[in-house]
Amino acid sequence: ESAKWSQLWLDYKKCKDSVEKIAIEVLGFDRAHRVIDSGVKELKLALGRIFGAEVSEGNGAADPFAVKIVKDSAVAKEGYELVSSASEIRITASDENGALYGIFAAIRKLSCGVAKEEISEKAAPSNPLRMMNHWDNMDGSIERGYSGNSFFFVDNEIVVDERTVDYARFMASIGINGIVINNVNVKDAASYLITDRYFAKVKELSEVFADYGIRLYLSLNFASPIELGGLELCDPLDESVINWWKDKVKEVYDKLPLLGGFLVKADSEGRPGPFTYGRTQADGANMLGDVIKPYGGIIIWRCFVYNCTQDWRDYKTDRARAGYDYFKNLDGQYHDNVILQIKNGPMDFQIREPISPLLGGLTKTNQMLEVQIAQEYTGHQIDLCYLVPMFKEVLDFKTYCQKDNDTIADVVSGRAFGNSLAGMAAVINTGNDFNWTGNYLAAANLYGFGRLSYNTELSSEEIAREWIKMTFSLEIVDEDMLTDMLLRSREIYEKYTSPLGIGWMVTPNGHYGPSVDGYEYSRWGTYHRADHLGIGVDRTDKGTGYAQQYYKENAEVYNDPKKCPDNLVLFFHHLPYTWKLQSGKTVIQHIYDTHFEGYAEAKEIAANWEKLEGKIPSDMYNNVHHRFEMQLANAREWCDQVNSYFYRKSGIEDELHREIY
Ligand code: GCU
Repeated sequence: ESAKWSQLWLDYKKCKDSVEKIAIEVLGFDRAHRVIDSGVKELKLALGRIFGAEVSEGNGAADPFAVKIVKDSAVAKEGYELVSSASEIRITASDENGALYGIFAAIRKLSCGVAKEEISEKAAPSNPLRMMNHWDNMDGSIERGYSGNSFFFVDNEIVVDERTVDYARFMASIGINGIVINNVNVKDAASYLITDRYFAKVKELSEVFADYGIRLYLSLNFASPIELGGLELCDPLDESVINWWKDKVKEVYDKLPLLGGFLVKADSEGRPGPFTYGRTQADGANMLGDVIKPYGGIIIWRCFVYNCTQDWRDYKTDRARAGYDYFKNLDGQYHDNVILQIKNGPMDFQIREPISPLLGGLTKTNQMLEVQIAQEYTGHQIDLCYLVPMFKEVLDFKTYCQKDNDTIADVVSGRAFGNSLAGMAAVINTGNDFNWTGNYLAAANLYGFGRLSYNTELSSEEIAREWIKMTFSLEIVDEDMLTDMLLRSREIYEKYTSPLGIGWMVTPNGHYGPSVDGYEYSRWGTYHRADHLGIGVDRTDKGTGYAQQYYKENAEVYNDPKKCPDNLVLFFHHLPYTWKLQSGKTVIQHIYDTHFEGYAEAKEIAANWEKLEGKIPSDMYNNVHHRFEMQLANAREWCDQVNSYFYRKSGIEDELHREIY
């Protein structure tokens, strides 16, 4: 029987060490608890495959080897401890999720080749909320999806099947504990997810998730009182609107007792919101927060609020400023079950952006980080772009929001300001393709985001190696080579696309491939301002003032083109092509060099992939090989279009006289 979908990193392979019999014992936990039950199932499956063992439950006195799941209230929430000896692996946790994560951690170690007698690890999650955000629409399409259609929704119906269970297993195995199933742009049938039309199926889905320690969340239409309730308005301070929400949320929790809460995109890109009624973002979020509070639910409110009907002639309005401008002055006003979800950069998931000044700029508000593993601007899961190094940069960024504990990791984990609602969310890159992520190698981002959100201290390389070991069976030289390919891929993509932090030179709407002026005269606030003398956006105190939104230490660096890191210099400054960067190169020479290099390096990694032919299953090999062919065509197009564009604008020759068209 051939599989209908891949098992990703849980496709266990037999190890050298065979064990005849293994006993599983559950000590202190309720064996019947849904999460413990899932954990035992997972262990049986994995141990059976990895050791070829006959796995049984109960007192294993008669068996030579046992895996024990032990409750101990001393272990951190959702954390675990693993120790092993010649006769047992002991997994200790204080709660069921911790036990499940400990089980998957033991399986991970075994899958990565650690001997069963040598397993030891102590872990606790860095972030309380570790979430995936699906941008799945109920007609089955996925906004910014590059791996087929939705596996949750087909023709406006909800599907719950074996694939859903596998999906929950994968997510739990990397520590995810919250999933938003529908697109943030809630319209059409999705508005009815909070009605009888869908309750039964959403409930079923929430139960599948709950078996794996995951809470289900829904994206919400802020205009529901109008669209579902027939009211004339959705003003968050209007009594009839508040009462409508009270009744609605009561009904929702009657029907969906396991619901975690709602994610809301309001006043953003045409979505309804409190601004229509002259209310603030806090008014909107707090109203919903108060209504959902009796049920223990939370409101995750997105900060992606900006003017999307800008005029390119206007040099003063700056989209980058918008999040901070709309939300910072409300710091401290958000209720305690409201959490603001903030994109990593101030614009929109470009390959290089500064870190949003709102993160850590807010000091009295629950906040979480939003990143995108769906490769919207980073190659559509055609081009290889391992994003964990980017996420690490974001997490390691020093905000200076206080003396210590001031990195983004400190802020979004809740450590910095003592928030218990805090964490990380990713716009997910999955779909119903056989391999879930379109490109087999894009699964490294899916795996990587989960692992990083659970443990922000892991390095990009550790995560890459784990994923490779669990996915393929490679000799160490090949593992090294593939690790190197992943680790270099983000920089390579950056090199052949948009230089020095400027962003947005993509084909409008689709966002794959070059179009240097594609967004230059649009309404989206996405300009590079290139002319025959120079390029870049002046966001200093003499320009839009965006640089001043950072704490002093960062503001000073960004405000000064001589101190601003090269990779962001055009984000903050309008500079002549002849400007000398800190690297010693001129802006124009940097543009030429990085584009030629990026294309050349893309060819190198594509050639490396060919060395794996015959060493991995041919469907995997062919899938990625085909994508590398497309990536090279894309990289060439980017290289030539960007170089030609700037050569034509500037008239300045490439010092190395390479071919520019
Ligand atoms: C981007 C993306 C949209 C998405 C939006 C969001 O602009 O292109 O498709 O809806 O982000 O994050 O809400």
